[in-house]
Amino acid sequence: MIKIILVAGARPNFMKIAPVLRVLRQDYPDRIAPLLVHTGQHYDRNMSGSFFDELDIPRPDYNLEVGSGSHAQQTAAIMVRFEEVCIQEKPDMVLVVGDVNSTIAAGLVAKKLGICLVHVEAGLRSGDRTMPEEINRLATDAITDIFFTTEKHGTDNLLREGKPSEAVHFVGHVMIDNLFYQLEILSKNGPSPEMKRFKAGLPRQYACLTLHRPSNVDRRKDLEPIVQALQDISQKIPVVFPCHPRTRARLEEFGLMSGMREPKDLSMPLEKGLILFPPLGYDDFLYLWKDAAQVLTDSGGLQEETTALRIPCLTLRENTERPVTLEAGSNMLIGRDMDLLRKKVESILAGEFKPSGVPELWDGHASQRIAQVLSAPEVVLPTSRYA
Ligand code: UD1
Repeated sequence: MIKIILVAGARPNFMKIAPVLRVLRQDYPDRIAPLLVHTGQHYDRNMSGSFFDELDIPRPDYNLEVGSGSHAQQTAAIMVRFEEVCIQEKPDMVLVVGDVNSTIAAGLVAKKLGICLVHVEAGLRSGDRTMPEEINRLATDAITDIFFTTEKHGTDNLLREGKPSEAVHFVGHVMIDNLFYQLEILSKNGPSPEMKRFKAGLPRQYACLTLHRPSNVDRRKDLEPIVQALQDISQKIPVVFPCHPRTRARLEEFGLMSGMREPKDLSMPLEKGLILFPPLGYDDFLYLWKDAAQVLTDSGGLQEETTALRIPCLTLRENTERPVTLEAGSNMLIGRDMDLLRKKVESILAGEFKPSGVPELWDGHASQRIAQVLSAPEVVLPTSRYA
């Protein structure tokens, strides 16, 4: 038996862990014994708990309950508590996903204990070292033993950085596995009654927005022009905005909430306006954005999910670590050019946008490919293989 600890901590981790865990439990019960650790980086029900129910994730075997803090505090708290779990459980492998603080913290602990480290969604690079996630990606990949990549660029980056080719597996994207699975569930179970009612009141063309990157929201000088542009855009098309707690706090602090509507004011018609929701569960949000005319975002995952469903996506960032979404997919970088944002929103409304396709291996079966590699008899690598 191979004992694997899977680690999830922040909202974008849960949808990546869910399909991997499902496949390991269903298809390899005699070969792999998975354990789930939730670091507690995200803890609000709408940022964490609801995802466990909706995404069919079993209760975690351990919840480290680290909560919020500075990067150092959060990373250190995860490391101290996760080390105890590893010492007690003695896993053969630790599997981390994505690029959040939980990813690097758990990775460092595993490697220092000589445990084989597996990174799902490895090799992505934005080239922007001011982004905390870029540091997490570089540092995690520097100590990873088995790499799973979502796009060929990820593989190329790792090989360029000198990783051995036999350790790098291009498997497609587990987040797209989860997306397809959840679309099926949604078509059977439907969204919450409140969301169903809300969407029924929207016109055919509406936009969805998410915004939470520190580089967009933490300083007034960055956030204010974005909010101004969004106010203008929302006079043409309603913009539905489930708001991350970090962003909500900054909007309030900078006094930028005027004119934004909350669901409780929704007795008014929904033909236009910026409509602010608290963070939504996965299914309710999917139910909204899957039929949106366009998505505006600074999230990494949503650039990919919109690509998978070919929905025009305007990304409020200067760069992306997911270039396949620009080349093959429906994503476009806007950077800080708010006039470009206004222009592109109008073009999409007029039915003009680049043709887009779905990237290679984004077919809903990445988790199976990962499980196959992990379950192979020769998979447990000697530690410090290329230290
Ligand atoms: C983290 C990830 C980011 C990811 C995002 C998705 C890192 C470095 N960043 O950013 O890559 O895109 O998650 O959501 O790991 N908060 C709450 N409730 C919660 C969690 C957070 O209110 O359940 C608030 C707290 O004020 C906290 C702040 O949000 O201080 C930031 O949370 P944190 O986990 O540090 O980073 P995110 O911005 O969520």
